[in-house]
Amino acid sequence: MFHIAIDGPAGSGKSTVAKEISKRLGILYLDSGALYRMIAYYFQGNGVDLADVLYIQSHLDEISIVYADGHYILNGEVISAQIRKPQSGASASAVSRIGQVREKVNSVIRSISEKCSMVVDGRDIGTVVLKDARYKFFLTASPQERAERRYRELIAKNEDVSFEDVLNEINQRDRADSSRSIAPLKPAPDAVIIDTTGMEIERVCDIIAGYVDSRDIRG
Ligand code: CDP
Repeated sequence: MFHIAIDGPAGSGKSTVAKEISKRLGILYLDSGALYRMIAYYFQGNGVDLADVLYIQSHLDEISIVYADGHYILNGEVISAQIRKPQSGASASAVSRIGQVREKVNSVIRSISEKCSMVVDGRDIGTVVLKDARYKFFLTASPQERAERRYRELIAKNEDVSFEDVLNEINQRDRADSSRSIAPLKPAPDAVIIDTTGMEIERVCDIIAGYVDSRDIRG
């Protein structure tokens, strides 16, 4: 069994690359950001102010998160498009500052990781959650290019956004995620750093796959 951690900022290509790598290697893909997005979605749906840390801390037990057959299930409800709105990233970033929220997400990831090989993307997978992951990568790209990628994704989903708003949101989230005290966004000392600016996603996948030992590929 082995784990691949892919960390990096918004729009660095982590999730596209992680999905492709999971297909190529036939292992599970887990999107840790989706778990933060689900927690934010739950509280916002109940009209809770995400700045109300005490409330969130004391109501986390109301939430059950299950990942099964490629579906993220929040208290029995399959969640997908609801957490992909442009504002969901900022909401996820707000709840992700809370230590108890992080512990909850980490325990979901770790319990799945005990059962199977997988590729997980996020901000702190290689530094905190799966510190012993066999392979660790940190993807970066210029803010301009990351915003362009995210803008194209949102426009393809018919979201009504402007490029400037997307760029601002990405810059703000980078700042918040990198400067927070718990599990800030940073490369693990033993991560391979890949700057994906101007790089095709296939090329990034080839680079990552090139690090994976053939014994792991055969399973
Ligand atoms: O896809 P994108 O990179 O825009 O966002 P995401 O991976 O879904 O993460 C949304 C937010 O959740 C991030 O901005 C982080 O604040 C938080 N997050 C985190 O703190 N730790 C993780 N392992 C994953 C996400």
